[in-house]
Amino acid sequence: MSLLEVRDLRVSFPTADGVVRAVRGVSFDVDAGRTIGIVGESGSGKTVLTQTLLGLTAGGQVSGQAVFDGTDLIGLGEEQLRRVRGAQIAVIFQDPLTSLHPLYKVGWQIAEMIRAHDKSVSKKQAAQRAVELLGRVGIPQPAQRVKDYPHQFSGGMRQRAMIAMALSLEPKLIIADEPTTALDATVQAQILDLLLRLQQDFGTAMIMITHDLGVVADIADDVLVMYAGRAAEVASKRDIFYKPHHPYTKGLLESIPNSSAAGGRLRPITGQPPSLINLPSGCAFHPRCAYVMDKCLTDEPSLTPVAQDGFHRSACWLPASAAGLSAEAEDQRRRTVGEGRSVAAAKIAEAIAKSPEAEGSVIA
Ligand SMILES: Nc1ncnc2c1ncn2[C@@H]1O[C@H](COP(=O)(O)OP(=O)(O)OP(=O)(O)O)[C@@H](O)[C@H]1O
Ligand code: SF4
Ligand SMILES: [Mg+2]
Repeated sequence: MSLLEVRDLRVSFPTADGVVRAVRGVSFDVDAGRTIGIVGESGSGKTVLTQTLLGLTAGGQVSGQAVFDGTDLIGLGEEQLRRVRGAQIAVIFQDPLTSLHPLYKVGWQIAEMIRAHDKSVSKKQAAQRAVELLGRVGIPQPAQRVKDYPHQFSGGMRQRAMIAMALSLEPKLIIADEPTTALDATVQAQILDLLLRLQQDFGTAMIMITHDLGVVADIADDVLVMYAGRAAEVASKRDIFYKPHHPYTKGLLESIPNSSAAGGRLRPITGQPPSLINLPSGCAFHPRCAYVMDKCLTDEPSLTPVAQDGFHRSACWLPASAAGLSAEAEDQRRRTVGEGRSVAAAKIAEAIAKSPEAEGSVIA
């Protein structure tokens, strides 16, 4: 049994404009000590998916299961959830200032967090532990810096302090939601390196949310690619990078600057993410998919194994043999599309091919 088993999680928000279907039946596992990267464009549901695990989606209608260490988190009362948050599952956000209080000293906040969950720890012990943790995450002169306020820390140091706070209760799982997006590239690399090292030392499992496949390459064991509130593809990191099956995953790889997947060119994915109130029919990716076929306009594909290991799964009508970045895989895709496309799908493909971003990356 995995540490976390999420099954058919659905989250909707009723709004004046209609129901926002933010998460539409997502399932995934996180094993102890492993890292899963959740990747997808802005608005694909990454934050809602993970916040729901902690009961933090106010106003959302939630269904499904999220069994963490034997307990289903969905439907737990606020009191029970408070015991899980921090102590069992810690969260690191993109902007540490949303979690660090500006008017309290950094060290005091870490110490309070420890004491709030364990009253038997004395103030002195908690303060010592705060210094120790700040040292552990690479804050220089932690015995002095522990007395600083958050604004006296640089962005990178604040993120280190957040990581110290997340680790303070030795949680089994850390959810890191775009923890390095606001930082410059050098600091980003340092923070990822730190997270990786601490995760190995503490044996913590991690969910790393990012829109950056480079972050996934650095840190994840497995990857869940999200599109419009659903899992488009799930695989080991290796398979995501070398044997992508879903055209959206392939598109993400091709939009990495100078990626080999795009032959050294930058190829952004054409079009915009769909409205989650009025989703496209069939496969939600079809208005942007270079491989769109007739079936894609009417039938929504479910996540299906595309490799013998059974773990690598993709929600796409292309055959399992159409995985990867090789010329043979592309041939296989072209053949399938040739057989599966008539007027309606051809029109969509033509519009995609004519979009300024496409530049011939599309089979028209
Ligand atoms: N409380 C809410 N009420 C209505 N819609 C919401 C609410 N919270 C989130 N949403 C919508 O749910 C969708 C998914 O949002 P979410 O924040 O999970 O995206 P994300 O993948 O984390 O994006 P980003 O990369 O920008 O952080 C978005 O369309 C968002 O507008
Ligand atoms: S080929 Fe069809 S099912 Fe697959 S991603 Fe494209 S539109 Fe969706
Ligand atoms: Mg988010």
